Amino acid sequence: NIETLQKLILNRLDKESPFSTKGFTDEEGTELDQQVILGVLNSLLSREMVQYEVIENEIWVLSEEGSEIAEQGSHEAKVFYAVPATEAGLPISELPKLIGDAAKIGQGRAFKNKWIKKDGTNLVRQVESIVDQTQEDLRQIRDTMKHSDSEVTKELKRRKLCDNKKVVSYMVSKGSQFALTVTKQATDLTVDMLQNDLWKSLSFKQYNFDAAGIPPAGGHFHPLLKVREEFRQIFFEMGFKEMPTNKFVESSFWNFDALFQPQQHPARDMHDTFFLKEPATSDRFPQEYMERVKKVHSEGGYGSIGYGYNWKVEEAEKLLLRTHTTAVSSYMLYHLAQQPVFKPTKLFSIDRVFRNETVDATHLAEFHQVEGVIADKNLTLGDLIGFLNEFFGKMGVKNLRFKPAYNPYTEPSMEIFSYHEGLGKWVEIGNSGMFRPEMLLPMGLDPEVRVIAWGLSLERPTMIKYGIDNIRSLVGHKVDLGMIQNNPICRLDQDAHPVKAQV
Ligand code: PHE
Repeated sequence: NIETLQKLILNRLDKESPFSTKGFTDEEGTELDQQVILGVLNSLLSREMVQYEVIENEIWVLSEEGSEIAEQGSHEAKVFYAVPATEAGLPISELPKLIGDAAKIGQGRAFKNKWIKKDGTNLVRQVESIVDQTQEDLRQIRDTMKHSDSEVTKELKRRKLCDNKKVVSYMVSKGSQFALTVTKQATDLTVDMLQNDLWKSLSFKQYNFDAAGIPPAGGHFHPLLKVREEFRQIFFEMGFKEMPTNKFVESSFWNFDALFQPQQHPARDMHDTFFLKEPATSDRFPQEYMERVKKVHSEGGYGSIGYGYNWKVEEAEKLLLRTHTTAVSSYMLYHLAQQPVFKPTKLFSIDRVFRNETVDATHLAEFHQVEGVIADKNLTLGDLIGFLNEFFGKMGVKNLRFKPAYNPYTEPSMEIFSYHEGLGKWVEIGNSGMFRPEMLLPMGLDPEVRVIAWGLSLERPTMIKYGIDNIRSLVGHKVDLGMIQNNPICRLDQDAHPVKAQV
């Protein structure tokens, strides 16, 4: 126990200061581990009762084979002694029977030392007696843990008969507060100590500013954020710029009307969309552009017959929680159209969207969308397919298939499918299309400019990646925080485990 060890060291120091802890023993005479001694010294050092210096020593120790040779002699010596001092000597074939393995290992060196030689099929002695230097060297090392000739230790180490080790010990001397007994130190200042002035006579434990702190429990990335970061890097690699998606509230205008989504569309129903109560509306969208949107919906234009209904600004002004990130894409494309000179543009976003959905194992009322948008002159459906192949290929998802689909704002539209090895079937991993002229031309974009776009959810690939089968284990109040802390970083480029995603 630490108190007895402290006493032991202080008593020793009282007799001899400084002293070395090398070979320091307890009362029973058992040698103490230097690591244990160091702990005791540090406890005394913090009270300034001792000081110490670290002494590093190199010692040599024998390997198992080395110890055996120190005991029984070297293999070559065994060979020599096995050969009788007669003229006939010993038939070579007899040697292994007498000394076993040593016959094979020791012969070469016995020849080299000119101790024995071959005479026909026999071995005969060449000298009367030998000095087994290897054994003597090893015995010196065994008994003193060192050797006078460093060349010898080098050679014996090469033969794996011994090895060197660093050992640490301490040179201890008295500190300024040296005493033979250790007084208990207070660690906390209490109300009692203050009230009865006890603090004046007490000795307080010093702060240890070198002690490692407790690792903080916070600051872990959610799996969604990790996968999002991987998607972001793929977009950046492909030259995309990130769209500002930091507003969850949009007007229906950007979320629906600008996207040529008619005002009676079922998605605009309260059942699918969360509308705001306060403030309930906003008219902060370009009025001139709004007039063109109104016209294309109600009367048509740009080669379209439109929907032929009575478009109402009140409907467009309704504020909502955006139902898709395409609301931000429409806003960005409008601003792109206002540039005096058109520049080909690649944009992406990964952020939260909201839908008034019945919550089940795979659906929540909010999720994340990953969206890519490319605007350039003369883009074709082939360009869209090419981009999708490259984009999903970077996640390890190959062999895409496409199925015609419908979106109010894209024509043609395609659902994206990928073959899921685990499920053994084709699964939908995203939605895509070319934005309609009824959407782009009212914005004022050059008629030659085509815009291709695609979207997918972030939750689906994340759940697959982290082996989570219920969305409520990933998002919401049932999430296990240990899972968030312990889950590994995300790498998508694994061909062995292709990530599948779905809108
Ligand atoms: N906005 C679509 C959705 O929410 C995805 C999409 C984006 C489709 C871009 C086509 C083009 O499902």
